[in-house]
Amino acid sequence: MVPALGRPADAAEERALGAALLMAERAYAPYSGFRVGAVIVDAAGSEYRGVNVENASYPAGLCAERAALAALIAAGGRRPLLVAVAAASGDDCLPCGVCLQALAEFGDPTIVARVGGAPRAIPLHELLTAPFAHASGAAAEREAGR
Ligand code: THU
Repeated sequence: MVPALGRPADAAEERALGAALLMAERAYAPYSGFRVGAVIVDAAGSEYRGVNVENASYPAGLCAERAALAALIAAGGRRPLLVAVAAASGDDCLPCGVCLQALAEFGDPTIVARVGGAPRAIPLHELLTAPFAHASGAAAEREAGR
């Protein structure tokens, strides 16, 4: 049983989740067969997309969320506000711990995902209460514009 997480997604969040579901069709997941799409929205309303990219050497595979994060950063962005994640199968799909840590580097975005079949909006800190950060944190905060 999944605990109650966050709140029901609003209309804009559901739209982003729909876009993530469409993205999932492009995933490269021949090993797990679990295709995932992610859409990151920033403050300007721009969208950055990613899919999971698996590899014959399994640990070399990349999750959809970190692929979308790389697209945001490569475009010059630093502030993900919303991260929508969907599996092509329609199954529940929350970001893994590695992806939560990667996203926490850039703030506390709202994660939008199906939980118990229903679209939910969950602050990242509710899923990862204590991300790792370097003791001073100053360098990362400068670079992330915080
Ligand atoms: N995966 C993602 O891309 N995002 C998630 O949130 C969960 C898992 C990928 C990793 C792997 O390619 C496949 O889904 C099965 O775990």
